[in-house]
Amino acid sequence: MKALILAGGSGTRLRPLTHTASKQLVPIANKPILFYGLEAIAECGIHEVGVVVGHTALEVQAAVGDGSEFGLQVTYLSQDAPRGLAHAVLIAREFLGDDDFVMYLGDNFLVGGIAEIVEGFATREASTAAGILLARVPDPRKFGVAEVSPDGTVLRLVEKPDIPPSDLALVGVYLFDRRIHDAVSQIAPSARGELEITDAISHLISMGYGVKSSMVDGYWKDLGDPEALLDGNRIALMAIRSSIMGEVVDSKVEGLVRIEAGARIVDSIVRGPAVIGRDVSLQSSYVGPFSAIGDRCTITSSEIVNSIILSDSQVDNVGSLEGSVIGKFAMIGHRTERPRATKLVVGDHARVELL
Ligand code: DAU
Repeated sequence: MKALILAGGSGTRLRPLTHTASKQLVPIANKPILFYGLEAIAECGIHEVGVVVGHTALEVQAAVGDGSEFGLQVTYLSQDAPRGLAHAVLIAREFLGDDDFVMYLGDNFLVGGIAEIVEGFATREASTAAGILLARVPDPRKFGVAEVSPDGTVLRLVEKPDIPPSDLALVGVYLFDRRIHDAVSQIAPSARGELEITDAISHLISMGYGVKSSMVDGYWKDLGDPEALLDGNRIALMAIRSSIMGEVVDSKVEGLVRIEAGARIVDSIVRGPAVIGRDVSLQSSYVGPFSAIGDRCTITSSEIVNSIILSDSQVDNVGSLEGSVIGKFAMIGHRTERPRATKLVVGDHARVELL
């Protein structure tokens, strides 16, 4: 069994964070989303992983390296443009050979791992060519949607339908055997111009092969937009281990909190679940529940709750920030000079909500 993890694509819904950076490397609880997927793959005993990369290839390669830190052997597969999930399978043909494989979308966050479904697929009936994971969602129109029989056999799949046939969304983890290669070579691009994996799976069904589904029993989220990211961050923070490696001076640290080495917390309160990255300086501030502060940030005289701040940013004397996602090397301060107007230098597609 091999794995194919998709770390290409464009990440438009996470702009401006993804104007220059890979969406799969945006962190939740200070760890890139992609790393959770790589860990889940390693946990089920798979070693050979193909990582599909696009225009952010260099950044993904710098973060993941040869995969040895995860106990994996990583091969990078370059995709010239985001031409669809089935296109990613097409370009991975040589790497995958005739092996069974799990395909994992690099922006999906799944708690509880994939070992059980991977094992289930290994012992499937010969007629079963694919396995998918499903979750009930309130608005299925944003996902691939499945219609299944009572025993979990997939009858029909549609990609982002206007009128969903059910509330069963496709989760970004798929299991395939070599029969998918023929299917991805038979389909045509969809209306949005992509080779859809849902069309390739539908092709398998039309050929008379079995496609089995199982329901996700833990937390799952496609971390494609800022609200989802904050939600995933909250869940990931609840699973951290408390440890205080930094320095805590005249401060209170309560609940589930990880403070990395080199961080300095002075005259402040940190109330978990929260993570404070390496070499962070926290001065006369409050970091409240569900916050992740990236490495080398400086926070002074401010309150931060339910927020993600990426590395190397500064927050100074801003009152209270809630439900915020702040990119790298950002500066948020309090204007003292006149005119007492709000002064903004924000990137394209940024979102600012003023009081
Ligand atoms: O998250 C689950 C959903 O993922 C499923 O319900 C849908 O059926 C499936 O099509 C997919 O929908 P999205 O529109 O969310 O896919 P997205 O374009 O965000 O791509 C998913 C991941 O794959 C993301 O990490 C980027 C990467 N990717 C995407 C494309 C289109 C690639 O590496 N190459 C690509 O060509």
